[in-house]
Amino acid sequence: MFIYRAVLFFFVLFLLCNLISLPLVAENGEAGWLRYGRLEPQDAELYQSLPATTVVLGDSLVLKSSQSELVRGVRGMLGRTLRIQANGPTEAAIVIGTVEQINKLEPRFQIPEKFQPDGYLLTRGVIKGKDCIVITGATDRGVLYGVFGFLSRIAQHKTLSVNDLQQPSAPVRWVNEWDNLDGSIERGYAGKSIFFENRKVRDDLTRVSEYGRLLASIGINGCDVSNVNADLHILDPDFIPQLARIANALRPWGVQLGVAVNVSMPKQVGGLDTFDPLDPKVSKWWNEKFDEVYRQIPDFGGVVVKADSEGQLGPSVYKRNPAEAANVIAKALQPHHGIVFYRAFVYDHHLDFNNLKADRARAAYDIFHRLDGKFEDNVIIQIKNGPIDFQVREPASPLFAGLQKSNVAIEVQVAQEYLGQQRHTVFIVPMWKEVLDFDMHVDGKRTPVKDIVAGKSFNRPAGGYVGVTNVGLDTNWLGNHLAMANLYGFGRMAWNPELSSQTIADEWTRLTFNNDPQVVQTVTNIQLESWPTYESYTGVLGLQTLTNITGPHYGPAPESQENNGWGQWIRAEKDAVGMDRSVATGTGYVGQYSPDVQKMYETAANTPDDLILFFHHLPYTYKLRNGKTVIQTIYDSHYAGAEKTQDFVAQWKGLRGRIDDERYHDVLAQLKYQSGHAIVWRDAINDWFHKISGIADEQGRVGNHPGRTEAESMQLNGYTPFELKSWEGASGGGKVVQCVEPAKSCTATMKFDGAPGWYEVDVEYFDVMGGDAKFRVSVGDQLVEEWTADRQLPGREPTADSSVRKRIKGLALRKGDVIKIEGISNQRDPAALDYVELIPLEQ
Ligand code: GCU
Repeated sequence: MFIYRAVLFFFVLFLLCNLISLPLVAENGEAGWLRYGRLEPQDAELYQSLPATTVVLGDSLVLKSSQSELVRGVRGMLGRTLRIQANGPTEAAIVIGTVEQINKLEPRFQIPEKFQPDGYLLTRGVIKGKDCIVITGATDRGVLYGVFGFLSRIAQHKTLSVNDLQQPSAPVRWVNEWDNLDGSIERGYAGKSIFFENRKVRDDLTRVSEYGRLLASIGINGCDVSNVNADLHILDPDFIPQLARIANALRPWGVQLGVAVNVSMPKQVGGLDTFDPLDPKVSKWWNEKFDEVYRQIPDFGGVVVKADSEGQLGPSVYKRNPAEAANVIAKALQPHHGIVFYRAFVYDHHLDFNNLKADRARAAYDIFHRLDGKFEDNVIIQIKNGPIDFQVREPASPLFAGLQKSNVAIEVQVAQEYLGQQRHTVFIVPMWKEVLDFDMHVDGKRTPVKDIVAGKSFNRPAGGYVGVTNVGLDTNWLGNHLAMANLYGFGRMAWNPELSSQTIADEWTRLTFNNDPQVVQTVTNIQLESWPTYESYTGVLGLQTLTNITGPHYGPAPESQENNGWGQWIRAEKDAVGMDRSVATGTGYVGQYSPDVQKMYETAANTPDDLILFFHHLPYTYKLRNGKTVIQTIYDSHYAGAEKTQDFVAQWKGLRGRIDDERYHDVLAQLKYQSGHAIVWRDAINDWFHKISGIADEQGRVGNHPGRTEAESMQLNGYTPFELKSWEGASGGGKVVQCVEPAKSCTATMKFDGAPGWYEVDVEYFDVMGGDAKFRVSVGDQLVEEWTADRQLPGREPTADSSVRKRIKGLALRKGDVIKIEGISNQRDPAALDYVELIPLEQ
């Protein structure tokens, strides 16, 4: 009996220990920041007096979600299941409902200030004689946001004794998904579409509801689910009922559905012989189309339009302008209160590189400014944060101040197309906030972009925020746990652009991982340092992201910027680099800003270093404000940035045991990969500038890599040389070796003749699509490491996109040792090798 009891005791103890360490159980990121992890008993004490009952005043879908979310959150975090009471309260309770509903019950209940649509209040009050916690808003959606706000406070261990009135900064807070009907996602880096497959809406829309819940928790109220490069069949009669199913999945979360349309639809799929926006037939077609949509989706939010841009047809076909194109659709949506988001991303991608006055950055302002005041009131001009295209740094688009009689929204990209595609950690909120805080100085007055998009500066009724998100079926939504901070941050910033990046990162970390001060500090640090770090190894001084712009927009390929019609030029020559956009001698782009802003950008002397080459063409020897020359700044920042990524790995390692193992290891692997790819970036950009400028690095690092042996100079057996198209993508001028025959084993060997000691042996290899090559490394006869190249990286042949660094730490090398790399090709992956680098380890 005693033994039985003892076993039982230890069993219970074991269970308890496991319960207490609940936050450390493996997690896969699916819950995002809505984990509702169980609080430790000492933290839960703060909520001892939480009422045991909740009363929901109403039975709308959104209020039902509010109630179930409240019960779910409290149960998860505090282990208590709230009693649900339909009427009442008959005892102390958490009362949730709109102000109107609460006033019916308790006329004396008052709110401190009038609600904006979607605003909410968390407070305490006496309702029918009972002391209650009240979660209320002007609308059901406001109440839902209030519930999420309430739960977020508990998750962050904040007190509930507050009078917390939260109002959104702007009415429009949408996300855009660039999903195609076949299930692929344009610039999506986290698997297939959660909405579509095989040209149908997916049968199982569970992930869509879960996404709606995540969006609602950060105040997002609309979601365009289809690619801006629109599918002509998106509003076909047999597709609308399918879209209605998506709308049904989002509706309980207060998220309105939208889709992208193409202005040519009336002709291309609608049976008309024209899509001229001024033709009455065309307007009738749109009217009937939206009548049909709203019959099936009564709360349909609206459409986004990309026209006359990157191959999409537009009003120019009929010599009409964007206002005419937007308005015909807008008028058809007006009776239903729908919105047209008309994108200002309109430009000519066949610009003449040899014309020094040609400038893509000018396009949006040149086209849209003259149309100000011509758009219907339910049109919102959707303007990318900068004048080019989601680069690592751009100035604020001058168009924000160029439209004062039109509604505008800022479009930012949560999907990290030019920012490492979620394989590099880049927390983008600080970058977005720089644009939002940027003062456009309209009429000499303070006019930050955040006030313009909120409609405050020019007294506009609509406007706000759009984030291109591109979540996918990957369990953790964006393919990298840390990238979810961008989605969270986008929503929080759209709600309240006054929140600091630090606050947003801090909140997100507490909700996503836990409140351990070391976790909060480390994760927040990494996030806040990540954008400047990425910038420093991919595109400094306003050069934009020097990536492969005619390819996948991922790895370094500075040469691809130039000599094409796309206009992302940097005009790098032997002696100077940068685009002259001044009024005096350049493209005149600077003239699109207000006089005060022009003063800053017109001359190099007044332009901040971090954008100087965006605005000016300067000699490499030009001395910057930082006291260094342009070229030395380029070299130094690439070294510093690559170094910093190694430091992220070290910082992250400090979290072992403080967060769950699964996410710890996922993020560690991602940061390690990033730290290797940052070296590829560093060397590609530095080598490229070194070659064209001919100016040596003052510190002697560029082009000089002690310990590095190029694969092409090793003793090769089966491997054959191959030259990359973009030479800067591989060490040694673009030469690599590959094992071309399928399923063949090839070897590259070298003899070690350095000082005996402990070394890190780094192998730079390529992991291309279309096969999973294997690698084995041995020293003498001893196999020391083997791996399979099975990452999902862009590219079907070796390029800087697919270059990966494998670090083998702690090998004892002796003079005469033979180091052998064996590559076994697989299907189309030729097990290509760039170099081996031996780094002595400090003792
Ligand atoms: C970028 C991106 C495209 C996208 C376009 C847009 O150019 O590479 O994939 O279609 O932006 O915003 O419309």
